[in-house]
Amino acid sequence: MPRSIIAGIGKYVPGNVFTNDDMKQFMDTSDEWIQERTGVKERRFANRTGETTATMGIEAAKIAMERAGVTPQDIDFIIFATLSPDYYFPGCGVLVQRAMKMKEIGALDVRNQCSGFLYGLSVGDQFIRSGMYKNILIIGSEKHSFIMDFTTRGRNISVIFGDGAGAVVLQPTEEEGRGMLSTHLHSDGNDAEILAVYNPGTHANYWQKGLADYDDAEIGEMYQSHTMIDKGQNYPVMHGQDVFKKAITKFPEVIMEALEKNSFTPADLRLLVPHQANLRISQYVQQKLKLRDDQVFNNIQKYGNTTAASVPLALCEAWEEGRLKEGDLVCLAAFGSGFTWASALLKW
Ligand SMILES: CC(C)(COP(=O)(O)OP(=O)(O)OC[C@H]1O[C@@H](n2cnc3c(N)ncnc32)[C@H](O)[C@@H]1OP(=O)(O)O)[C@@H](O)C(=O)NCCC(=O)NCCS
Repeated sequence: MPRSIIAGIGKYVPGNVFTNDDMKQFMDTSDEWIQERTGVKERRFANRTGETTATMGIEAAKIAMERAGVTPQDIDFIIFATLSPDYYFPGCGVLVQRAMKMKEIGALDVRNQCSGFLYGLSVGDQFIRSGMYKNILIIGSEKHSFIMDFTTRGRNISVIFGDGAGAVVLQPTEEEGRGMLSTHLHSDGNDAEILAVYNPGTHANYWQKGLADYDDAEIGEMYQSHTMIDKGQNYPVMHGQDVFKKAITKFPEVIMEALEKNSFTPADLRLLVPHQANLRISQYVQQKLKLRDDQVFNNIQKYGNTTAASVPLALCEAWEEGRLKEGDLVCLAAFGSGFTWASALLKW
């Protein structure tokens, strides 16, 4: 059975840099608060009308495909992970297929937020192992700046997140000592409302009271109402401390699961590339697994948390900086809204 390798990887970040001091023009915050709690120094925000989640993904994909030595015509499946799609539906995958003039191949959108890219990677890996596809394009991309509350009310969220994209091309290999060893996927929906965008949606307060206020409950009035907009109920919600507590348990757990499954220990890792949720979370995980600084890659300082884009964006940058050599043992791990969490262990 073939294993999958990342044959090419690319990233794209928008040109607009917003420092922590720049965020003060929108809300009551400070560089000190943001850096101390999250490690973020600056983030990128997409051009307001000139780029979208799909177009940023396409830019990253072009680089990944060029590095893999393939053209859009060679791609036989697209997986697109995002929580900030261009349209509520259809997904971004079909926009990539159209814009890149690909064949009438399958396009799958993944809605698993911070672990979306790793869920996508796992799905792609199964298709490669089964022999069904030979060139799978997997993209993680986010345009968070369009969906966040840029007033003081939303500052606990909006200072953490940034825009960007990452992409990989997965291909089969028979080469010894290379490729994906295993992937591990988990979820626990008990805390689904702790990190979420509730509206617009069809929930009608079924799962939890008070998530949306309706002007009246008539058909056609409940998807989005003026009251919901006036109260800011269409913005993301995050109970930060609850997310933090769960993340620091599940990150080490899912990394150890991947290592143990393949009879490795943390000391064997060349590089851990964790989802860039918060620098404090990455530091906690590093400490818990007793990893040296050179075994963990972080770039949240420059880009903020880019959700589905974060793992491929960090992996790409690590590779571009020469931190990865053929055959190196690499662990990718993510945790986020849902809650969902995941890991992948591979020999680069
Ligand atoms: C979000 C997070 C940084 C907030 O830190 P915290 O220590 O939990 O802070 P709190 O939410 O308790 O707020 C503490 C105070 O800071 C204030 N505050 C919140 N955001 C602020 C900001 N951007 N600037 C200044 N002050 C802010 C709060 O209003 C609160 O003020 P109060 O004490 O007067 O009420 C932290 O909880 C966290 O990192 N959680 C994990 C989030 C995460 O990783 N999310 C991504 C998951 S994929």
